[in-house]
Amino acid sequence: MMGRTQVSWTTACSSVSWTTLWSNFADGTIHDNADRGAIHDTRILFAGSKGFIGMELQAIREIVARHRHRPGAMLPILHEIQQVGGHLPATAIAIIAEALNVSRAEVYGVITFYADFRTEPPGRSIIQVCRGEACQAKGGCELEEHAKRSLGIDFHQTTTDDAVTLEPVFCLGNCACSPSVRVGDEVHGRVDATRFDELVAEAKASSGVGP
Ligand code: FES
Repeated sequence: MMGRTQVSWTTACSSVSWTTLWSNFADGTIHDNADRGAIHDTRILFAGSKGFIGMELQAIREIVARHRHRPGAMLPILHEIQQVGGHLPATAIAIIAEALNVSRAEVYGVITFYADFRTEPPGRSIIQVCRGEACQAKGGCELEEHAKRSLGIDFHQTTTDDAVTLEPVFCLGNCACSPSVRVGDEVHGRVDATRFDELVAEAKASSGVGP
C-alpha cells in the first residue's frame, strides 16, 4: 500500500509534495484514516503548487460525498476543494452539480459570487490587497493601483512567471493598521508602495522565484 510518509503535511507543499500526495490516490482509493486526515486537516495551500494538476477525481468525490447531505453543502464543499487543491477545476464543478442535483451554471454562479473562490490555479504566492472601507480611507486605493502596476496584472490574475496571484479581499480584521495586505497566511499592516514591493520580493524569494 502506498503510504504518505514522504509528504510534509504541516508545511506549505512544494510541487513534489503535491505529486506525492496525489500519487497516493492513484488507484482512486482513500487508503486509511491517515490519508483521510491528511485531506481534512492540513492546509495544503498554494505555495509552489499548481493545485489540481494530477489530482484524482476520487479525492474530489470524497470531499463532496462527505458534505453533500448537509444543509447548505455547496459552500463547505467549494471551500474544502479549494483548500486542498488551490482552485476549483471544471471537473469539480461537474461533480458538485451532479451530487447536489443542481446545474453547473448554479455552481459556477456561487463560485463567481464570492471573491474568495478561483477557477484557475494560483501562482506560488497569493497576495491579497484589502479593499475594505477602513483600508480605502487610509490609502488602500492607491496601494491597489500600485500593486496592479507593479505586478503588471489585475485582480484575479497571476504574473507571467507564476510567482504571484493578486486578489482583492474585504477586510482582513486589521483595520486599525490599514491599509492591510495578506501574503499567504500572514497579514501585514500599514503597507505602502515600498513595503508592498518588499513583500513581493520576499514572497518570490521564499517560493524560489528570483528577484
Ligand atoms: S478594512 Fe482592511 S483590514 Fe479591515
